[in-house]
Amino acid sequence: MKLADNKATLSFSNGAPSVDMPVYQGSVGPDVIDIRKLYAQTGMFTYDPGFLSTASCQSAITYIDGDKGELLYRGYPIEQLAVNCDFMETCHLLLYGNLPNAAGKAEFTKRVSNHTMVNEQMQFFLRGFRRDAHPMAIMTGLVGALSAFYHDSIDINNPEHREVSAIRLIAKMPTLVAMAYKYSAGQPYMYPKNNLSYAGNFMHMMFATPCEEYKVNPVIERALDRIFILHADHEQNASTSTVRLCGSSGTNPFAAIAAGVACLWGPAHGGANEACLNMLEDIQRMGGVSKVGEFMNQVKDKNSNVKLMGFGHRVYKNYDPRAKLMQETCKEVLVALGLENDPLFKLAMALEKIALEDDYFVQRKLYPNVDFYSGIVQRAIGIPVSLFTAIFALARTVGWIAQLNEMIGDPEYKIGRPRQLFTGSEKRDVLPIAQR
Ligand code: CMC
Repeated sequence: MKLADNKATLSFSNGAPSVDMPVYQGSVGPDVIDIRKLYAQTGMFTYDPGFLSTASCQSAITYIDGDKGELLYRGYPIEQLAVNCDFMETCHLLLYGNLPNAAGKAEFTKRVSNHTMVNEQMQFFLRGFRRDAHPMAIMTGLVGALSAFYHDSIDINNPEHREVSAIRLIAKMPTLVAMAYKYSAGQPYMYPKNNLSYAGNFMHMMFATPCEEYKVNPVIERALDRIFILHADHEQNASTSTVRLCGSSGTNPFAAIAAGVACLWGPAHGGANEACLNMLEDIQRMGGVSKVGEFMNQVKDKNSNVKLMGFGHRVYKNYDPRAKLMQETCKEVLVALGLENDPLFKLAMALEKIALEDDYFVQRKLYPNVDFYSGIVQRAIGIPVSLFTAIFALARTVGWIAQLNEMIGDPEYKIGRPRQLFTGSEKRDVLPIAQR
């Protein structure tokens, strides 16, 4: 952190002495006011529910310029990574800070491949779930349970444990998601095939059966790989902040990532891809494109509680760059699968067009986010809607781990412990039950 030349001064209208606070500069983006001594100096807290103006940490991993609609992983624009790199290179970049050369990539990929199997006992654990359990309920359980299976990598303060658990989590997430799917479908689990790419292996574990030879379709493999790249990290979003907060207590990495999975599930966050597809299917059932106007009126009605899922973002006040890339992938996949006339894609395009021209959305700077098109791609690939958020979790795992490891390595890190503005009852006496 670099100290800025200026400082911030907080003054009070009641004559209390004003307070000077240091200002720090990042490499790009807004400066921050250091309020760490504020309570000691004034006896007051700051109040910022939802962290609208609060930087919770310093980080060198991902940078977003929400006004420009720009997303950089370690300085590299997402558009360049999506076109020139694959997910393994992206993982290496997020974890270690640099893009690997060919030898480095091969070594890293081999390390990940060595850990793709899960303990055989895991399938008996999975069997305890109902077959119709939501995949995110299963994933929260399975990821948390990894700490019960891999005792040799649970010390968050040991760099070797952190490294092994990082590789294990990246390697095993596809296996666990595919197992959750196979379990719900009543099909046998498929063991990983390490000669396939990360995305290809996931497709094999999802869609192959022991009865027939399975060939990975390269267009779909590339599309899945792109979905993974686009979801790999997104700085201090709700699930990443959850992972950091959870990990700040010193808990093990598997437990911290399980907390991230649980947070991601919500429809305002990763669950939006599932909610968005369900929304499109509902509108389609109501009559499709002809009902878009009626649906939009509900979205704009403050009393309806209906949202245009896949639209809006806390940080992006411009087109989410991931949505643009996802829209491209969506077209490619639909063409490759002969689904160019897919009614849900047409409906999504119609909704997007109307929303981008509508005053309600223009004034609030609401644009499509990554989830608007990712569901259509995944559905076309043959992934069930209820599994969409689990795919997001699979891809985000590397970002969560990179952020967790960055936090542990930060000398300024402390257990996360927000304060509050108390509005409850003042001290009072308990009355005997007969007098209440
Ligand atoms: N449809 C209709 N109105 C919306 C939407 C939407 N999707 N998003 C925001 N608004 C309105 C909101 O009602 C508010 O209006 P007003 O100022 O009149 O009260 C205004 O826009 C500002 O919204 P906000 O709720 O204060 O913004 P936020 O930063 O707290 O919420 C959000 C961001 C992503 C939770 C929200 O836009 C949303 O719920 N979107 C739909 C769910 C979604 O697609 N989530 C995925 C986010 S991207 C992937 C990820 O991070 O996991």
